[in-house]
Amino acid sequence: MIYHDAIVVGGGLAGLRAAVALNQHNVKVAVISKVHPIRSHSVAAQGGINAPLGNHPRGVYDTWEKHAFDTVKGSDYLADQDAVIRMAREAASRIYEMEHWGCPFSRTSEGKIAQRPFGGAGFPRTCYAADKTGHALLHTLYQQVMKFKHASERKEMMIYDEWLVVELVVEDGVCAGLIALDLMSGQLEAFHAGAVIFATGGVGRIYGNSTNALINTGMSMALSYWAGVPLKDMEFVQFHPTTLLGKNILITEGCRGEGGFLLNNKGERFLAKYSDSKKDMEVAPRDIISRNIVREIMAGGGFNQSYVHLDLRHLGEEKIVQRLPGIRDICLEFTGVDPVTDPIPIQPGQHYTMGGIDCNTEGETAVKGFYAAGEAACVSVHGANRLGGNSLLDTIVFGTIAGGNAARYVQGLGGKKGEVALASALKRAEERIDALGKSGGNEIPVDIKVTLNKVMDSKVGIFREAANLKEAVNDIRVLQERYKRIKLNYTGKRANLSLAWALELKGSLDVAAAVVAGALAREESRGSHFRTDFPKRDDKVWLKHTLAYFAPDGVRLDYKPVTIGPFEPQERKY
Ligand code: FUM
Repeated sequence: MIYHDAIVVGGGLAGLRAAVALNQHNVKVAVISKVHPIRSHSVAAQGGINAPLGNHPRGVYDTWEKHAFDTVKGSDYLADQDAVIRMAREAASRIYEMEHWGCPFSRTSEGKIAQRPFGGAGFPRTCYAADKTGHALLHTLYQQVMKFKHASERKEMMIYDEWLVVELVVEDGVCAGLIALDLMSGQLEAFHAGAVIFATGGVGRIYGNSTNALINTGMSMALSYWAGVPLKDMEFVQFHPTTLLGKNILITEGCRGEGGFLLNNKGERFLAKYSDSKKDMEVAPRDIISRNIVREIMAGGGFNQSYVHLDLRHLGEEKIVQRLPGIRDICLEFTGVDPVTDPIPIQPGQHYTMGGIDCNTEGETAVKGFYAAGEAACVSVHGANRLGGNSLLDTIVFGTIAGGNAARYVQGLGGKKGEVALASALKRAEERIDALGKSGGNEIPVDIKVTLNKVMDSKVGIFREAANLKEAVNDIRVLQERYKRIKLNYTGKRANLSLAWALELKGSLDVAAAVVAGALAREESRGSHFRTDFPKRDDKVWLKHTLAYFAPDGVRLDYKPVTIGPFEPQERKY
């Protein structure tokens, strides 16, 4: 058995910030990650991170109250307002902290952190490092981690990269630790820890057309769900309006924040035709723009009935090269299109999981000693629709909070409880993996995964209706049955990614079932969840959070109230 005071699972922004917070409180911590931390999905974040700094000439009157209001309105009033206020109030300090740690933010001519307009924000509030903001932030945090790692001989911080967590171990409602698989050696280990923080990102890869890294399978949300912690608001899935045609690589909202246009096949800025986007046009919120792109394509305004254009040409080469260099590289590399001279073919794609592990503003879950932060968590600050730029902020604000709380919790603990539960969980995991290797089944895991992706893309997308959702429920049930008969194509111990993917596929299927169950039950339209058969928001019945509990025969749904604060729910108009 391996012992650590605290373990953070996930090496992205939320995870590393939580680990730094634990170390700042003198707690020895281990980070366990499926990939090397700087390959975490946070590195792919492009356009920026919100904070009401007021550095843009148009944003001088920005305040945390305005940021909080925009976030609550953007969430279609489903976000918990205490959580949103906490995030908005802490935004500026977290950004300045990252600046002082060396994050290379883009600058105004006066040398201040530059800010650009993003969707649904009343002011240019999004700080950025060109179009590689996630990369800049993640590397900055990784340097802090390295500082702690090498701080002394005592190894204050351990990093286990390329380890897959396969079980969260809970005994009598208290977290005991976890079981993880060393992907390189094939060795399973029990990790004892007083506190565990999951900061493992979203579940985007239950969809096929997604901006998410392939590692975002949903496994860790499933681990929490299987351990008895409910998943909250899973039906709220964000579709980013602009992903590269066919590849679904993110084409940042920063393109539109910098002045890019969305054009139909007649060269018109078609967002003007739709009542909810005609005022803010390309910087309307994501849910609205994604729906209007699909409507425009369905009305015959698209190209090949599948995409529209994002036009940056009028921005000029200098601005594109300075502010959007990564976008230019992606377009050239993957489509041969140079945005300086040609419009970019784009289509909406799955981008973000608003739902996640149910936790409060302290990062605490229903299990003592088990915390969640970042996209894996649902605090909830994003409600039914996240504003662009709030996700990176969420990671560093709530990563810090969860890390601090976990530190205080472990410092008050005595003894090493949970060893027996960990030992039997380790045995169970060994038997499970052994059985997978010996399976006489004939189902190929990747076939199941591809089918799941098609079901989610076609039946649980931007526009939803009961008939399709019911089909999706059944389709997933069939896939869960097929999963029981899977066969691995490689059974060796070392670097067996076939095994890792098979283990994670079970998580993807169960999490997808929770998304669909929540979507079918929620008979209203709110934020990203648009039901063509229930096109209106219904606060009387549905101003509440969905909780999905794992049950052996499927998903059990329950609900809990939304925390309303100073912002009374009203019609969401732009
Ligand atoms: O468009 C983007 O750069 C994405 C930002 C975000 O999801 O917050």
